[in-house]
Amino acid sequence: MAKFYVTTPIYYVNDEPHLGHAYTTVLADVLARYHRLMGDEVVFLTGTDEHGQKVQQAAEKRGVDPQTHCDELSPRFAAVWEKLGISHDFYIRTTMDDHAAVVRRILAQLWDASEIYDAEYEGWYDVSEERFYTEKELVDGKSPVGNEVTFIREKNYFFRMGKYQQQLIDHIEANPDFIVPKKRANEVLGFLRQPLGDLCISRPKERLNWGIPLPFDEDYVCYVWFDALLNYYSGLEFGFEPSRGEFWPADLHLIGKDILTTHAVYWPTMLMGAGLALPKTILAHGWWMFGEQKMSKSKGNVVKPLDTMDLYGRDILRYFLMREMTPGSDSNFSQDLIVERNNTELANDLGNGLNRVTKLVEKHFEGRLPAPGESEALEETLIAAAAASAEGVQREIGDFHPNGAIREAMELSREVNRYLEQRAPWKSIKEDREATGRTLYHAAEALRIVGVLLQPVMPEKCGELLSRLGRPAEPVDFVESARWGVLEEGSPVNSGEPLFPRFETEE
Ligand code: MSP
Repeated sequence: MAKFYVTTPIYYVNDEPHLGHAYTTVLADVLARYHRLMGDEVVFLTGTDEHGQKVQQAAEKRGVDPQTHCDELSPRFAAVWEKLGISHDFYIRTTMDDHAAVVRRILAQLWDASEIYDAEYEGWYDVSEERFYTEKELVDGKSPVGNEVTFIREKNYFFRMGKYQQQLIDHIEANPDFIVPKKRANEVLGFLRQPLGDLCISRPKERLNWGIPLPFDEDYVCYVWFDALLNYYSGLEFGFEPSRGEFWPADLHLIGKDILTTHAVYWPTMLMGAGLALPKTILAHGWWMFGEQKMSKSKGNVVKPLDTMDLYGRDILRYFLMREMTPGSDSNFSQDLIVERNNTELANDLGNGLNRVTKLVEKHFEGRLPAPGESEALEETLIAAAAASAEGVQREIGDFHPNGAIREAMELSREVNRYLEQRAPWKSIKEDREATGRTLYHAAEALRIVGVLLQPVMPEKCGELLSRLGRPAEPVDFVESARWGVLEEGSPVNSGEPLFPRFETEE
């Protein structure tokens, strides 16, 4: 049995949860569910990032103290995850005392080892990104991303990040799976061609007090990213009883491409400094776009996942998010696209096949699955297609590509329809009841396999699909997808309402 430790970024509580957050969280959930089904021991961690200037400012704006603000906002994320069927094992909040204790312990360890030092510092500070820029890095007097900056001179504490530059380059080059997709690894290597400076890890309390106090200087709080990144480590330690330290390092950190540097440069060097193993894979996905714009709150074009969930249902949204985006590339989001995927793939390909088979079994076989009979060439083709799909799904999930896994599974559902067209059980029933029974058995069995293969993506819908074919709706072992002949002759089959209704587009 293998272990699989997967994380999402922890989300800032300066904002309501939106589709960008939901995507990463569903992606992590789907991968976690696949691994559980495959018999792996899984730890899936998500949560909220609650310190730092952004959160402090958001609280000030509302006229509440930061802790009250966090206590109100963090559960809103958790509530959305519950509605989306997210199966995380621990929900971490960086304002938890146990997290702060781990952060302070590691800071003290780094300070004692002289991995952290203090120095007078000056530079241009970008409040919104919470980081310093050098004069040279500014573009027209603003940060490279166009934010206002202010000049600041003060004593601060620094982590010796620069000394790990070559070690990090070597690690990236020796481990092609460390940062995926490859273009992101190249981006990081490009960034590392410039000398890597040390990382300012403190903020004087007089400027910012909403953070974890440094154990060696209580006049300072810890830089929010240094605190936040450590959640991946601290969560294993205090989020479980007994602690799950043996899951370290993470198998997969899922992030958006905008937080690549913090995860692929700061984080690994922090781990090197602390003598901890590096994560196996950091996967940076692209952005959901509306038209050509990245969805963001400031642009006011945020689609709340809850809204589309209420319109189409949780599993349809999960399916769409996983199907539409190839992790790594940007994707467009629109309601029309959801409707189109639903109608062509779920309603037509999968729903119709299921409907035909279950209706015919009800009508001609008293709702009891007929006998498998002897298979001929057409059946053998279908059985081979099922085996190929199951294998394909396993391979794609190994590559962290649920979109590829869905493609493989849906290919099988189209194969079922081709098979049904060829065997035409609605006609053959008039002359050969036994052969018709065989057709329906084979089609049902292939649909069962589609149900198992897609269960991590659409847990509810696939549970319902399986139960209509006489199987338990609860997740079954993934090996059942690679096994032919699991459905038993005589087991109850029912058609019910269409499992995947068609939706009309807006216009
Ligand atoms: N708090 C930090 C992460 C700390 S992890 C140790 C943070 N939080 S965030 O709430 O601003 O963003 C979290 C994630 O949402 C990022 O991975 C970001 O890429 C993702 N998304 C925000 N908008 C997005 C889209 N429009 N599309 C896809 N994901 C995007 O950063």
